[in-house]
Amino acid sequence: MKLKKILLCAAFSAAMPLAAQDNVVTVEAAKPGSVIQPTMYGIFFEDINYAADGGLYGELLKNRSFEFSPDHLMGWQAFGKVEVKNDGPFDKNPHYVRLSCAGHNDMWTGLQNEGFFGIGLKRDAEYRFSVWARVPEGKAQTLRVQLINEYGLEEHQEFVSKDIKVTSSDWKKYSVVLKSPRTMQDANLRLFLCSERGRNGDGVMDVEHISLFPVDTWMGHENGMRKDLAQALYDMRPGVFRFPGGCIVEGATMDTRYQWKNTVGPVENRPLNKNRWESTFTYRYYPDYFQSYGLGFYEYFLLSEEIGAEPLPVLNVGMVCQFQNGDDAHAPATEAGLKPFIDDCNDLIEFANGDVNTKWGKLRAEMGHPAPFNLKFLGIGNEQWADPYFKRVKIVSDAVRKAHPEIKIIGTSGPDSEGHNFDIGWEAMKEQKADLVDEHFYRNIDWFKNQMNRYDEYDRKGPKVFAGEYACHDKGKKYNHAGASIYEAAFMLNLEKNADVVHMATYAPLFAHVKGWQWRPDAIWYDNLRSARTASYWVQALFSQNKGTNVLTTSLSNPTPKGEDGVFAQACLDSKKGEYIVKVVNTQEKAESVRIDLKGVKKIGAVKAITLDLSDYDLENTVDNPNAITPQESAIKADGTSINLTVPAKNFIVIIANK
Ligand code: AHR
Repeated sequence: MKLKKILLCAAFSAAMPLAAQDNVVTVEAAKPGSVIQPTMYGIFFEDINYAADGGLYGELLKNRSFEFSPDHLMGWQAFGKVEVKNDGPFDKNPHYVRLSCAGHNDMWTGLQNEGFFGIGLKRDAEYRFSVWARVPEGKAQTLRVQLINEYGLEEHQEFVSKDIKVTSSDWKKYSVVLKSPRTMQDANLRLFLCSERGRNGDGVMDVEHISLFPVDTWMGHENGMRKDLAQALYDMRPGVFRFPGGCIVEGATMDTRYQWKNTVGPVENRPLNKNRWESTFTYRYYPDYFQSYGLGFYEYFLLSEEIGAEPLPVLNVGMVCQFQNGDDAHAPATEAGLKPFIDDCNDLIEFANGDVNTKWGKLRAEMGHPAPFNLKFLGIGNEQWADPYFKRVKIVSDAVRKAHPEIKIIGTSGPDSEGHNFDIGWEAMKEQKADLVDEHFYRNIDWFKNQMNRYDEYDRKGPKVFAGEYACHDKGKKYNHAGASIYEAAFMLNLEKNADVVHMATYAPLFAHVKGWQWRPDAIWYDNLRSARTASYWVQALFSQNKGTNVLTTSLSNPTPKGEDGVFAQACLDSKKGEYIVKVVNTQEKAESVRIDLKGVKKIGAVKAITLDLSDYDLENTVDNPNAITPQESAIKADGTSINLTVPAKNFIVIIANK
């Protein structure tokens, strides 16, 4: 239906004479302007809303290493004779469970895991179960592994089951693959100790790091990502991938800050950390929100490479979250006090880029990637402000620059989008010669309407802009509705227009589990089996997939006054693909006819339009209805080097004309 409407509008308006109120968009098509950086549009990843464990990271079991604290059995139900012990094989995750035979004919010993809001299984898909186990007394025992529907009406709760025989008194990894005969959002995993000498025997088995992964992960990696979610990232064609956050970099306390060195090496020995978002909001409290770090810095670098984005890690600058802690809880602002943070930066550069004979380069090679990851950018500090930050970031970035002049350093202007702290933040970053400054703005529609020319007056001699976290939140209603996303599209035209000064932009946050979110809106929502790309996701994707290589000067006959709704447009050239790309956004409640003149070129080839209809204010893509809003493609007829079209109310259209 939609497609038909666009075709009709386009064809109809091509035949119509230009009326006085029509919009003419003049594009200097033969004069390629500033270069649009390949990093221009990208992805901001943070483990908020169960984005890592329970989200992108493929692990299906919660608390696999029994390290959740204070309850080491959180996520597990234990039955029979179960004891938590702490002298296990992995020094950084020392807890494990001893299962001893129940010693009674009708009693059993075992464990049951609830997954993250259940375990999502797909019919006929395979799941790899693994466990580190030993039989301390040297007597072989069997572990029965079952996938179950605990609350169903069927006679048997289990629907697939396999046995693992544990024979050694040394810790060893055992694994089996289970094929699920059914699709379920909320299965459980159950483990029975089946003593070789019967239920009332005296068998003992120790178990540790119990894991269940889909075999079919993104790119088939064993410690891999959930496929549909990674695919959604790839499909955006992002130019940059920022990780691991956000506030999570800072932590709620110095001890719980994100420390990348804890996230590399064998997954079994990556020490668990509290998630900063576990308790941030008492009205959305998640006592079981931890970071297993199974998705760690190696996996982030690899994923960046696989989705074609430049990796952009952000590291702690010796400060915890200023909102939560004021100015008292930071590392001393001296070179000695900040040494661990400086080392973290320089060692990370070695981990990413260093020769395989260096300490950290060797680890990268051992983990499977001898070739360097070609790290070019490093963020130092997230969303911090004023003197406590300025002092520390200077010491840390001076030291990093000295060791690695090739790395571009990204500072921050703090959480404000304007005002005193924002201004002094920018001044400090200029003085310190940061390469880019990370700006954040989660703002309402009125703010966005007033910022449609935000970057026109930015200083061209200072650091470049990284719009590192932004989203249009409507007044109080913070779910993803189309009515807010249209302003993100209009605003992004100004990013593109000013590509000489804006080098990166990433919408935030990225992911949210429908049962475990702390912050919304977000670009992609999911439950245990399904995912939905929101209208904001599609806005990002359309910009990123069609970002071009050079800005083309674009003028409108009826420019929209500041703070008002209207028609907005910006063009670019893709010299590699041989395309003129014109993006047009109509934020009004009425349709507008628009004529695009590609000036300075003699002819153009085939033209197509990709339209995102954001006119139904409350409409959103959900896991139940993921395709309510999707881009629609249609052919369009040009009139020489002019393109006439009608842009329906609240629509975003990308016009692509072949050279
Ligand atoms: O994106 C959610 C949070 O917003 C980020 O963690 C933080 O940087 C900002 O305040």
